[in-house]
Amino acid sequence: MNQEVNWLERIQETASFIKQKVGGEMPKAAIILGSGLGNLVNEIDIKVAIPYSEIPNFPISTVEGHKGQLIFGNLGDKYVMAMQGRFHYYEGYSMKEATFPVRVMKAIGVKVLCVSNAAGGMNPNFRVGDVMLITDHINLFPDHPLRGKNYNELGPRFPAMNEAYSHRILDLARNIAKENDIRLMEGVYVGTQGPTFETPSEYRYFYRIGGDAVGMSTVPEVIVARHGDMEVFGLSVITDLGGEGIFVDVSHEEVQQAASKAEPIMSFLVKEIINKLEEV
Ligand code: HPA
Repeated sequence: MNQEVNWLERIQETASFIKQKVGGEMPKAAIILGSGLGNLVNEIDIKVAIPYSEIPNFPISTVEGHKGQLIFGNLGDKYVMAMQGRFHYYEGYSMKEATFPVRVMKAIGVKVLCVSNAAGGMNPNFRVGDVMLITDHINLFPDHPLRGKNYNELGPRFPAMNEAYSHRILDLARNIAKENDIRLMEGVYVGTQGPTFETPSEYRYFYRIGGDAVGMSTVPEVIVARHGDMEVFGLSVITDLGGEGIFVDVSHEEVQQAASKAEPIMSFLVKEIINKLEEV
């Protein structure tokens, strides 16, 4: 068992570093930006940007095209932090490493976490470029971020997951989409380890068990955020389709291109939602 690491100490050390580096009041909302969705950063009036490589205890970023930095600044009227680039399990990180930034967010005072990702759509009503509000998830990762010693200071041993995605923020998102005439799909995100995309049979299987979209991230981060009692909402950009009878080729480049196209809608929604949250 790999229990020698004292995660509490590490989290505190990293949180102190960030507080000192950023200074002033800490943000109450954090955003994790998925592949091809980094442009939301352009909407942030950046006050401080810290490359992951400078942050003590942060994992080292491996994927090309991911800048890898923590950003602090104003998104509309709200002060937020954003992770430009996330840590995926398929890159080789342990679940604890991959979700470490979420622990740090909690430690500096973040209350609401927004997760975004690119995902393959199984729901036959979905089209490439759609944005899907994540209503729930199915965890199919082979490891769990809460496996091992539980730190009661961070959250309970057996956290409830009945409202992983905040119902009140789901309603808020629905209203914003309606008011602005945005086609906002809804569905269940299936989290898998990757790095392979799915076989046709796997897409079909994920749809049959109740999934609407599938991707290789998000679920571990949401589990850790909920363990720490943060409120969560999430958006997936549908970058490819793997429904019954649909057999399309998919590549990382295509995923990034499709994500970039839908990115303005996702950015708009994230900004509007966060700006309507009173406690942020
Ligand atoms: N499967 C898994 N992850 C993905 C997909 C997909 O089809 N599209 C974007 N990320």
